[in-house]
Formats: sequence, C-alpha cells, structure tokens
Amino acid sequence: MRWPLAPAACSLLLCSLWIGARWGSTSKAGSKEDGEKLRYPPSKIAIIGAGIGGTSAAFFLRQKFGRDVLIDIFERGEVGGRLATVNLEGLEYEAGGSVIHPLNLHMKNFVKDLGLSVRSRQASLTGIYNGEEFVFEESEWFIFNIIKLIWRYGFNFLRMYMWVEDLMDKFMRIYRYQSFEYSFSTVESLLHALGGNDFMHKLNCSINETMQKAGFSQKFINEIVIPAMRVNYGQSAKVNGFVGAVSLAGTDPGLWAVEGGNKLVCFGLLYSSKAQLILGTVTSIKEKSRPQRTGGILKLYEVSYQTAAGTLSNLYDIIIIATPLDHGMSNISFLGFNPPIVAFQKHFQQTVATFIYGHINASFFGCQEHSDFSLSEILTTGNSKLFLNSIGAVSPVKSINDHTLKPASTACIWKVFSPESLTEEQLEMLFTSYHAVIERKWLAYPQYNPPEKCPPIILHDRIYYINAIERAASAMEMSAIAAKNVALLSHHHWYDKLDRIDQEDLNEKLKSEL
Ligand SMILES: Cc1cc2nc3c(=O)[nH]c(=O)nc-3n(C[C@H](O)[C@H](O)[C@H](O)COP(=O)(O)OP(=O)(O)OC[C@H]3O[C@@H](n4cnc5c(N)ncnc54)[C@H](O)[C@@H]3O)c2cc1C
Ligand SMILES: *[C@@H]1O[C@H](CO)[C@@H](O)[C@H](O)[C@H]1NC(C)=O
Ligand SMILES: *[C@@H]1O[C@H](CO)[C@@H](O)[C@H](O)[C@H]1NC(C)=O
Ligand SMILES: *[C@@H]1O[C@H](CO)[C@@H](O)[C@H](O)[C@H]1NC(C)=O
Ligand SMILES: *[C@@H]1O[C@H](CO)[C@@H](O)[C@H](O)[C@H]1NC(C)=O
Repeated sequence: MRWPLAPAACSLLLCSLWIGARWGSTSKAGSKEDGEKLRYPPSKIAIIGAGIGGTSAAFFLRQKFGRDVLIDIFERGEVGGRLATVNLEGLEYEAGGSVIHPLNLHMKNFVKDLGLSVRSRQASLTGIYNGEEFVFEESEWFIFNIIKLIWRYGFNFLRMYMWVEDLMDKFMRIYRYQSFEYSFSTVESLLHALGGNDFMHKLNCSINETMQKAGFSQKFINEIVIPAMRVNYGQSAKVNGFVGAVSLAGTDPGLWAVEGGNKLVCFGLLYSSKAQLILGTVTSIKEKSRPQRTGGILKLYEVSYQTAAGTLSNLYDIIIIATPLDHGMSNISFLGFNPPIVAFQKHFQQTVATFIYGHINASFFGCQEHSDFSLSEILTTGNSKLFLNSIGAVSPVKSINDHTLKPASTACIWKVFSPESLTEEQLEMLFTSYHAVIERKWLAYPQYNPPEKCPPIILHDRIYYINAIERAASAMEMSAIAAKNVALLSHHHWYDKLDRIDQEDLNEKLKSEL
C-alpha cells in the first residue's frame, strides 16, 4: 500500500501536519455527520479500466483535482481496451472502435491537445445487399446517387439528415454544460438536460418505432436504417431510438480516425494525466473503516487485484469504474455493500471482426461481371440467411502516400463484421482467393432492448460508474463525455458544490451567459 506523496519541497514536520490534516478532514466527509465542507483534496483515486473512458477520466480528474492527488489506473488487458489494432501483412488496422464523428468535440480536442493528427476516411462506394441483390448501389456520380435515392426513397434521406442534425444540435449542448462545470447524477437526467422528454423517450422505444412515428417509410427503415444498425452495433432496428440515432450519425461523410491508431489517444491521455498504470485484474472492492487517532472514522475503499506477483490491495478515497459491469465483462465483486451493487447486469453483443487479404467473390453478391464490381463497402439488410453484417475494404492506421482504396476486383484487405466466427466454407464462398486471415472477437457493445433503464452513475458514496452511459449508446465520445461528467460530479461531491449537479433548465439558464 502506498501513502500520499508529499511535495518534495516541504519539510518533514510540515509534511506530517499536512497529511494529518488531509486525513482528518476526509474522516468528516466519510461520515458526513456534521455536514462540514471538505477543503482538502482526496489523496488517492482509483480508475478501473484503461480504455478511452478510464484514460479520459484520468485526464479530467487531474484537471479538476490538481497535481497532488495520486491517480492509479488498473488495466488487465491492454491500454486502449476496445480501441485496438490488429497486424496483418506487416500493417496495423483498427479492429475495434474505428470512426469518429466530426462533431465529437472531446475526441477532437484530445487529438489536438496531445499533438496527434487526424486521418480522414477514404472515400468508398457503398452497396446495400439484401441476401439476393443490391437494393442500392452507390456510383461515383454524386448527382446520379441523389436521383437514385430520391427515386427509391422519396425525401426520406433528406429528412433523415435533418432529423439527425436536429438531434446533434441538442446533443452538442453537453459541451457547453460541461464547460460551465455542470454534471449529472444519472444518465437519464443528462439526456433530459440535452433533449428533454423527447431524448428520454428515445430510450423507451426502438429506432423502428421512433422513425415510423417521425414519418419515415418502412422501406427506408429496412434498407437504410437496419444496415446502419448492423454495421455499427451488430443489431437490428429493435435497438433503442437513442443509440439508433447515434448510429445514423455514423453515416456522416466527414468521419475520421486518429493517424497511427485511435488507441494512441488513450496512451496520450494516460501520459499527460501522470496517472500510474497498474497492470492487474481488479477482483473486488470493499469498504473499509479506519478509526482515527482523533476519534473520527475514516471511510476508504479497498481495491484487490491480481498481478503476476500475486494478489495485492490498495486503499482509495474515490473509485471510478471505467469498464462495463455486465455479465462476463469485468468480474469485479463488490463485497459487503448494502444494498448490494449487482442489480443492473445485462448482456453484451458479440461481434467478430475478421481481416482477410484476398479477392472478393462478386458472384456471391449476385454480380456476374467481376470487373463491374466497384464497391468497397457492402452493408446488409436484416435477412436471416446472411452470416455477415458487413464487409468493407480497409486502409492501415498509418497513412501511406500511395494508398487508395481499390475496388473489389483487385486484392486488398477486407474487414468483415459477423455475429459468429467465419467458417472456412464461408470464407471460400466470400472470396475467390485469399490468404492471411486474422480474427478479433469482441463482446462489443450492449444488447439494446428498449425500454432501456440505465444503471446508476453513483454506485456508492464515492464510487462512480462511467459505462452506465453505454446503455443509452456506446461510442468513444460517449465514454469521454461520461468520464468528464464523473470527474465533475466526484469533484462537486467532494467539495459539496451541489448547485452544479442535476440542474433543471440549463439550456435556458446558460442562454444569458457568454
Ligand atoms: C468492433 C467494434 C467497433 C466499434 N466501432 C466504433 C466506432 O466506429 N466509433 C465509436 O465511437 N465507437 C465504436 N465502438 C465502441 C467503442 O469502441 C467503445 O464504446 C469504447 O471504446 C468504450 O471504451 P471504454 O473505455 O468505455 O471501455 P473499454 O474500451 O472496454 O475499456 C475497459 C477496460 O477495462 C479493462 N478491464 C475490464 N475489467 C477489468 C478488471 N477487472 N480489472 C482491470 N481492468 C479491467 C479492460 O481490459 C478494458 O481495457 C466499437 C466497438 C467495437 C467492439
Ligand atoms: C419509459 O418507460 C418506463 C417504464 O418502462 C416509464 O416508467 C417511464 O416513465 C418512461 N419514460 C418516458 C420518458 O416515456
Ligand atoms: C417495425 O414496426 C412495424 C410495426 O410498427 C412492424 O410491422 C415491423 O415488422 C417492424 N420492423 C422491424 C424491423 O422491427
Ligand atoms: C468472468 O467470469 C466468468 C465466469 O465466472 C468467466 O466465464 C469469464 O471468462 C470471466 N471473464 C473474464 C474476462 O475474465
Ligand atoms: C462464389 O459465389 C458463388 C455464389 O454464391 C458460389 O457458387 C461459388 O462457389 C463461390 N466461390 C467461388 C470461388 O467462386
């Protein structure tokens, strides 16, 4: 166990007084009997999980709590979590979270602040396959595409862009609220502050229902919306309306990624937060009381974890859980809490990402002339006969000067998303020839099933849960937003600044502020 490091400059005597004062005041906060405000920073904060959620939490907590607090971040796998790359034929490709929306401002700022750079997405021609034929095939001619879309779907497409834009406008309010330090104690109150009952209601209805009510045609939902849900979340139009809308925002032409790999953001945040990375698996969290010499009781949390060196434990003032607690995901036991912290476990969706170097079999998709086949991304409708959700040509995370996405008639690297591992027979159907296959299996995102009830963000007095937000929608930016929210919330609780938590009518209130 380590104790708070004192600034090197202070004398031994001053140091011990200083530490004593800190612990003394913590004890008052722990018991909260006299309601006295905390004036001293916490000594130690633990973050569990070094994905984008945990590393951005480290970054924001450092900003809020200052340089003296010790921040430990536990990781049992690799830094980056669901942001990871695979190596095929000597080049790296995004295997998990891959694209970022141009209006994802936290991700954008991280990249800027950390001195990273942006990799724009290659233009690609998309086709939508229904198991028998392409219901839509994009061509290189913009006007031609527009005419085709209007011909088939009327003004549904234009209406979708307007619908998503309206949602994004409201969603973007979060950045303003957070810049004024407002925080939320539940996912529901966060969504309500952004888009009122309409946003909350989206958690209760499927995207199918939501869009039908908004006047979209069933044909458009089946042929455009469902393929977007399948490629982004491996699920159908039964997902909740909020994650559905997030998924449709992923059809924006301005999507980008981080040059060198999205996980570089996690490494950068970790480095700049000066958090200590502990490679180990957290197994349990327990509340500990310590009698003080002065009479009070100090309440701390004990984190037990396994490393190569055996089982160890440390004590912390504040704990941030930055990994899903759903079935089979993190395996952390909360010992001795009353009421128990377990009640919100649900299931995650398996998605398999397979990378293949090869020639695609055009006749698998009902095309005869191989040379006519110019698509580089194929999405699929909800036809149950299909074993794949999508297939797309990918480029490596490091831009090479002369790398343009080649049409399907040439050999290149393809990424297939499917619910199960691809069998050899399936690969032989899908490709006329191939070599080099790499698979990455994920428990990728929640299985969405409205009405959706989000788990609490506050699991106990000073235990906060970032991934509660994934029940509304899973995306890198969602984790970053939730991480900043938890940094603000824990800070406000610690210093008793309750007027910055769950405020109503924020949008109106902030209109007058500049
Ligand atoms: C295939 C796929 C495609 C995706 N595509 C996109 C996309 O294009 N755009 C987008 O925005 N999002 C996408 N996402 C979603 C996005 O990747 C996630 O929402 C985001 O990365 C979640 O980050 P996180 O930090 O909250 O969780 P994670 O990245 O899962 O981090 C949690 C970390 O905690 C660690 N951990 C768990 N339990 C313990 C324990 N007991 N002790 C210690 N450590 C523990 C894990 O090893 C992990 O590293 C995709 C996800 C997948 C899987
Ligand atoms: C959502 O559904 C739950 C019950 O499942 C209900 O209590 C809640 O009021 C509903 N919320 C909205 C905004 O419709
Ligand atoms: C969407 O809802 C309609 C009825 O409201 C139903 O007929 C249709 O099958 C649903 N489609 C999907 C894909 O869930
Ligand atoms: C979590 O525990 C379950 C059963 O106890 C096990 O099947 C699963 O593999 C564990 N998950 C991880 C990631 O360790
Ligand atoms: C390609 O797809 C067609 C149609 O599904 C199939 O008959 C054929 O065996 C596949 N494989 C090759 C190598 O052409």
